[in-house]
Amino acid sequence: MSKTVLLATEKPFSASARDQVVAIIKEAGYTANVLESYKGKAPLIEAIASADAVIFRSDILDAEVLDAAKNLKLAVRAGAGYDNIDTATAKAKNIAVMNTPGQNANAVGELVFGMLVYLARGKFDGKTGSELRGKTLGLHAFGMVGRAVATIAKGFGMTVYGFDPFVKPEVFAAAGVEAASSVEDLYSKSQYLSLHIPATAETKNSIGKKLLSLMPKGATLINTARKEVINEAELLEVFEARPDFKYVSDIAPSDATAATLKEKFDKRVYLTPAKMGAQTEEANVNAGLAAARQIVGFFEKNDRNFIVNGL
Ligand code: 3PG
Repeated sequence: MSKTVLLATEKPFSASARDQVVAIIKEAGYTANVLESYKGKAPLIEAIASADAVIFRSDILDAEVLDAAKNLKLAVRAGAGYDNIDTATAKAKNIAVMNTPGQNANAVGELVFGMLVYLARGKFDGKTGSELRGKTLGLHAFGMVGRAVATIAKGFGMTVYGFDPFVKPEVFAAAGVEAASSVEDLYSKSQYLSLHIPATAETKNSIGKKLLSLMPKGATLINTARKEVINEAELLEVFEARPDFKYVSDIAPSDATAATLKEKFDKRVYLTPAKMGAQTEEANVNAGLAAARQIVGFFEKNDRNFIVNGL
C-alpha cells in the first residue's frame, strides 16, 4: 500500500527546498502532505494521524502527538538535535526516529562567526573593537557542527581546543584541534567558547558559574546549541561579577533572562531575533532532501542508518 509522508515544519524550509522534498516523496510513489507555518499542536495532531513517516524540524513531537500518529513508522528530524521528540515513547510505539547529522553544520558554523565578528567589533558602533586572529577558541563537543566551526576558525587564524568524551584524540589531531584534558581545562584555555552539546538529562543546566568563571579575561560564550544547557540564573551572576564577559546566542533564553541581558548588559550581548543557525537555502535543501531520502531508503530497502532511538 502506498505510503503517506508528512512534512511538518512550523518554521518552513525555503519553497525550493520544500518542493524538492515533495518531489523525492512523489518519485517514490508516496503521497506527500505539507503542513507549514502552523500554530499550536492541533494541526500537527490532525495531519500526523494519516502519516506513515514524518519529516520535522524543531516541531514538538511529544507523547500526545505520537499517540495520534496511528500509522507512523518513522520520524526524521531534518537537522541534528532531536530533543524535541519523545524518543522513548516513539520506541515503545515501534516508531523509528532518525536525524540528519551534518546537513546543516556549515550553516551553523558560518553563523557562529557572523555573530562573533559583530560582537568583537562592538556591534559596529564605530569604536575600536578586536580581531579573532590569534585568539583561542574552545569547542565544547566535537560533532559535525563543532568540526565545521573548527574549519572556519582555522581560516580566522584562531588556536582551537576541543573537549568531547565521545571523540578519539586522533579525530581532534586530524582536524588540527588540540584536545583539552577535561572540560575545566577547555574553559580555562578558551577566550571564545562555542557550545555544541545536545540537550540531554546530563547536559541540561550544566553551563554555569563553575565553568564560565574559568574562562580568561574578555571571554565570550557562544550558544548555537540549546537553551536548556545554560544555567540562566548563573549566567546572569557571571555577567554581574565579570564586566569583561560576553555572550552571543542563536537560542533565545527565557523571556525574563533575555530582558535582563538586554536591559543591563546590552553592549556585551547579542541574541538573534529568531533561531537562524539552520536557516540557509543550502541547509534547508541538505537536511530536507537527506530526510526524504532516508525515508525512501527505510521503506524500500530497510535502511536503518541514522536511527537514534535504538530500534
Ligand atoms: C538542529 O538541531 O539541527 C538545529 O537546531 C536546527 O534546528 P531548526 O531546524 O529548527 O532550525
